[in-house]
Amino acid sequence: MKLKITPSGQACGAEVRGVDLTSPLDQDTVDEIHAAWMEHQVLSFPDQDMTDEDLERFTLYFGPFGEDPFIAPIPGHPHIIAVKRNADETAPIFAETWHTDWSFQKRPPKGTCLFGITIPPEGGETMFANQYLALEQMPPQLRERIEGKHAVHSARNAYSPEGVYGDVDKAAGRSMTIMPSADAEATERHDIIRKHPETGRETLFGCAGYIIGIAGVDHEEGWDIMSELYRWQTRPEFQYRHKWQEKMLVMWDNRCLLHMATGGYQGHERLLHRTTIGASG
Ligand code: SIN
Repeated sequence: MKLKITPSGQACGAEVRGVDLTSPLDQDTVDEIHAAWMEHQVLSFPDQDMTDEDLERFTLYFGPFGEDPFIAPIPGHPHIIAVKRNADETAPIFAETWHTDWSFQKRPPKGTCLFGITIPPEGGETMFANQYLALEQMPPQLRERIEGKHAVHSARNAYSPEGVYGDVDKAAGRSMTIMPSADAEATERHDIIRKHPETGRETLFGCAGYIIGIAGVDHEEGWDIMSELYRWQTRPEFQYRHKWQEKMLVMWDNRCLLHMATGGYQGHERLLHRTTIGASG
């Protein structure tokens, strides 16, 4: 199978045609998609009339399902969550801050698959920031501040009862079923600079938000480093703005990207189904 791959021309991302994701794929095709994924970090597959079962099958070509805490799965599909917003919803946009999916886990998911079902006519794009590039182009004095350091990741600011998706959010009438929990207080450490386990390239991992501190650094100094790092790693030159279509599948690599949702579609519904690809081995 020969895929037709068109790079976005931005900091990452490519569109893939010439494959039908509603049917099982042979190993050569999976390998070709995997190679393109490692090269472009975000792949979009337009015009794929996929069912939830197709989404599950596609996900499992690249690893096991990831663990998805704090958000209830859709009925009958324990590994799919609905990223949704009703036309008249007034709750804050879900995930409208830079992050890496579930980076607070001991073994965060390697990737995420998101399938567009109902896409608003305008707005609702997903932004990505290429963390290979952010590290490659980083000023040496900033690199010195983070070299060899471990970030402390936690879901507490988001999913604890006191977090932004906690008790306050319940009152806002969100259509997504978010399940805040005291479990969100747990912490995990990850290297700020680390090697991508498949490409071997050095990359930054995660950002302030799920990162709540830097191990061995006092709170004030830690915030100062994280703020400087955040401003650098989210600069426009490292970004790709992804425009959605209905029946489009997007897969991205959480190990070398940040991403965030955007709004701008008030009065329109938006619905996507999401799986995460767990770390293998
Ligand atoms: C997410 O972070 O998984 C949601 C992205 C989006 O809604 O665009």
